[in-house]
Amino acid sequence: MNPHFRDVAIPNDWDRSGLPGWAYHSDALLELEKEHLFRTHWQIAGHVSDVPNPGDYLTMDVVGERALIVRGKDGIVRGFHNLCRHRGSRVVADNQGHCANALVCPFHGWVYNLDGTLRGAARPRSFPELDKTEFGLKPLDLEIWMGFIFIRFRDGGPQPAVADLLKPIEAEFAPYRAAEMVPSWGIWTQKSPVNWKSVRDVDNEGYHVAMAHPALQDLYGSTYYDEPFINGVSRSFATYNPHAGRRWSVRNYVRIAPQPDYLPDAQKKAWIYYGLFPNAVIAVTPESVQFYQEFPLSTGETLLRGAIYRYADESREQAAARYLAFRIDRDTMAEDVQLSVWSNESMLSEAFAGFYMSDLEYGVRTHHDHLRQQLPVLSLEAQPAEKDMEALNAALLSRV
Ligand code: FES
Ligand SMILES: [Fe+2]
Repeated sequence: MNPHFRDVAIPNDWDRSGLPGWAYHSDALLELEKEHLFRTHWQIAGHVSDVPNPGDYLTMDVVGERALIVRGKDGIVRGFHNLCRHRGSRVVADNQGHCANALVCPFHGWVYNLDGTLRGAARPRSFPELDKTEFGLKPLDLEIWMGFIFIRFRDGGPQPAVADLLKPIEAEFAPYRAAEMVPSWGIWTQKSPVNWKSVRDVDNEGYHVAMAHPALQDLYGSTYYDEPFINGVSRSFATYNPHAGRRWSVRNYVRIAPQPDYLPDAQKKAWIYYGLFPNAVIAVTPESVQFYQEFPLSTGETLLRGAIYRYADESREQAAARYLAFRIDRDTMAEDVQLSVWSNESMLSEAFAGFYMSDLEYGVRTHHDHLRQQLPVLSLEAQPAEKDMEALNAALLSRV
């Protein structure tokens, strides 16, 4: 695919059984997942165009943490814990918004500059002198890649810088000029009544496309293929079927979708999905770029979140294609939610005896391998006692 070679060959002999069923309904494991996956790995908060002007902000409440992204007067996008240094209130309450000059905490009115430093406490003479930096908002690791804002709730973490992590897809992704795009319909969220891993398991393979996604099958079923997760990144690629168009949305999409000059020929009719371990996908089509991700709310409920971005100067054809692609995706997502429910339900049944996966589901396996590397308790077929989960995982980690 590019000079950063990835060996995507599937071994002849591999364990096709997936994670143990208990992993989908253990509260103790969920706590470990929050800490060792969600808080320590890069998470997409949004895109620079979600906070285009100084004072624009965006928040994200996930896995017991609250992120605040705000563009400063100097134009720099920064990330903070959305947590007042006085008594921990949210500093901004809305998901998205604009503040003219400063962030004013709604609890007692402490005021923060847009760069996170404390401007002042309310009734300052009731406090000793407050250091403006020491009492500033706590910063988050933040990195911008091709316009996408990545944050990390814990400093450091097991992953390299986002630019290094995503090097293997950089050359292919760069021509879309994603950094120049603007929001289509804003950031969406939806709840799904399953474990977050069931969402990811469904999304990590295209074996089900032919049976379960009639629109995608019509659009690109004959060309679709998945590459496994390697160093935290997977890739799926498809181009339009030569005879696409049995369905109205697909027929019209293929007819009007742009084939932009700035894309290499191989990508002019391609939909490409990049899986980012542990819980996100960035997807490109010739007329748009999107991200989607999932965060656990409990072992049995997941927050789905994402957004689609478009060209600021898009043509009528591009806009129409983007709308049709959205319709295809919307149908696909509803189908995937149903599939993940059925798969997830089985994990509670005595009859569940593990997966038995096709070579076409090797992406699921490699995602699970990445999970096992962070959480070696997942290699245990029998469910450990909930109270022992953390210590057992720590002991297994210290052995590797
Ligand atoms: S908690 Fe923010 S001002 Fe008191
Ligand atoms: Fe699907």
